[in-house]
Amino acid sequence: MVSDKLRFITKSVEETYKIAKEKIAPLLKGGDILILDGDLGTGKTTFTRGFVEYFNINPNYVSSPTFTLINVYKGNELFIYHVDFYRILEGNDVFFDELMEMQDKGITLIEWGRKFIQEIKEYVEGNIYILEIKRLGETEREFIFEKYTDN
Ligand SMILES: Nc1ncnc2c1ncn2[C@@H]1O[C@H](COP(=O)(O)OP(=O)(O)OP(=O)(O)O)[C@@H](O)[C@H]1O
Ligand SMILES: [Mg+2]
Repeated sequence: MVSDKLRFITKSVEETYKIAKEKIAPLLKGGDILILDGDLGTGKTTFTRGFVEYFNINPNYVSSPTFTLINVYKGNELFIYHVDFYRILEGNDVFFDELMEMQDKGITLIEWGRKFIQEIKEYVEGNIYILEIKRLGETEREFIFEKYTDN
C-alpha cells in the first residue's frame, strides 16, 4: 500500500451516498479502477449509486451487474463501468485486456474484484484504489479507502 487510508462510518444509505459522492468520487480520475471489497449485501452497489451522482448520472440507473457482468453509465465527462466478478471463479481467464481497452479514459468500479487484483494490475494504466466495506450493524457500515498502485 502506498498511501494513507481514509476511513468513514455511515449509519444510513443516504450517508453512504453522501460519502461516495462527496468524499471518494472526486479523488478518482479517468482511467482509474476502484475495487469494491466487502461481503454480500454490505453496500457495494449502494455505494456505486452515490458515486455516479458525482458525474451527473442518475443513481436510479444503477443496478447490480451480478448477472450482466458489466453495466455502463454515461456521465457528463466520462463513462463509468460497473463490473461484478462475483460469478467468476479465481483462476479463470477473464476479459481484462478487453475490459481495460474498453474502459479507456473512464472509471471502473469492480465488485468482487480483489481476487483478480494481480491480473487487473497488469492491464490498467490508471491508479488502482481499494474500498473495503464492513458491516458493523443493521444500517451501520465502515468504509476504508486506500490507493493500491501509483501509475
Ligand atoms: N449505511 C448503509 N450503507 C449502505 N447500505 C446500507 C446501509 N445500511 C443499510 N444498507 C442496506 O444494505 C444493503 C446493501 O446492498 P447492496 O446491494 O448495495 O450490497 P452489495 O455489497 O452490492 O451486495 P452483493 O455482494 O450482493 O452485490 C441494501 O439493502 C441497503 O439498503
Ligand atoms: Mg452488488
